[in-house]
Amino acid sequence: MVSEQKEPFVIRGKLFTSLDDGENNEYLYDDNGVMVVNNEGRILFVGSTVPDEYSHYKVVNTQHLIIPGFVDAHVHYPQLPVIASYGASLLEWLDKYTFPEEVRYGDRSYAVARAAKFLALILEKGVTSAAVFSTIHDVALEALQVSNRDFGLNLVSGITGMDRGAPDQLLADLPAFKEINQKAIERSRDIERFSYAITPRFALSCSEKMLDYCGQLLESDQSLLMQTHINETEDEILATAALFPKVSDYLDVYASFGLLGNRSLFAHGIHNTKLEYEKWAAAGASVIHCPTSNTFLGSGLFDANGYISKEINVSLGSDVGGGFSLNPFVTMAEAYKVAKLRGQVLCPLRLMYWHTLGGAKAIHQEESVGSLAPGKYADFCLVDITSDDVGSEIWERAATVQDKLFSLMFAMPDSKNRIVATFTAGILRWHDKIQSGL
Ligand code: GUN
Ligand code: ZN
Repeated sequence: MVSEQKEPFVIRGKLFTSLDDGENNEYLYDDNGVMVVNNEGRILFVGSTVPDEYSHYKVVNTQHLIIPGFVDAHVHYPQLPVIASYGASLLEWLDKYTFPEEVRYGDRSYAVARAAKFLALILEKGVTSAAVFSTIHDVALEALQVSNRDFGLNLVSGITGMDRGAPDQLLADLPAFKEINQKAIERSRDIERFSYAITPRFALSCSEKMLDYCGQLLESDQSLLMQTHINETEDEILATAALFPKVSDYLDVYASFGLLGNRSLFAHGIHNTKLEYEKWAAAGASVIHCPTSNTFLGSGLFDANGYISKEINVSLGSDVGGGFSLNPFVTMAEAYKVAKLRGQVLCPLRLMYWHTLGGAKAIHQEESVGSLAPGKYADFCLVDITSDDVGSEIWERAATVQDKLFSLMFAMPDSKNRIVATFTAGILRWHDKIQSGL
């Protein structure tokens, strides 16, 4: 933690935010904008001139671009060391690289060290909210929660439920899972800026009994979210169909156990049938598009138009360690490239929306995070628009806000990080001391 900001303040600089009203690429951009933050870390005002009532507040001037903190809506904190695992596709990659690493999180001290490193890294990338997969071990989830006291991120997580298809150390039978899960839910209720997500890993690692329990829990407690994986690879889909022969498609596996609803976050959703898109839309569930994972593992090309045309809420996730980068600008650039390979063009305004407000909607917190708007948490970051090879030239030449944002995604500095400071709830949590000017 860098500083405890207790005083209200005004920050002035170039300011961009997507807007809440619909997914039609509406935004606010001001070359010389201001944001007023109160002493509780909430935004009081966003606009061009500081209202008189706040004129006595301290003013921080920045030459950097002020944007809302990103929402990484699907990421596995135990998988950082799994990045760059060579040659495999999903199911082999899980067995060969991922499960052996996840086994280590039964060790509290290992988990604590990894959790702290993970949180530090996402904060440096401008992420202020994240829906995180942990492991089956309660000590691993607790490590994330305890470490976050020093970082102040807005987190969603839960115990990763698995009772088959993995090494024994990653499995818990139903009575054991119920016990761990219930304990974790109770503990989580008292934790600030933490929301619990029931987390059955995916259909292949959960028995019918486990999925049924997860569905009942989701139904019985409206404060809970549910996160899982779906339709990521052809092999996974075939194996799932073989294990659940009675249902019509992969989404129906989850639906039949009460896991398809508007508090459901499904990662990937690449190989959907037409009917799956329809059921998905009708349920109001969110999809988390994880493009760096999909290209790295060779899982397939996400059909953005399939979701957009059905008005399904889309968010973006790094899916580290299937994904190879925690950097939201890399994720957005990869989403653009994946769409291009399908003959689709994704507007940078939409990509920014997906990685901020789309994520906020997925975790049911669009009232409090995801954009710079009065009443929301002052979760934001500062982006250095001069740090690529040609300084701010590309940014300045770009005629539209859309093109300016696009340059941030593709004219990446060598360091691959344009973020120079990250704030959560108005508190400066991380900054590059030289570049940030703070
Ligand atoms: N499906 C089930 N588990 C995982 C995981 O850890 N990563 C990815 N990409 N897909 C999964
Ligand atoms: Zn994943």
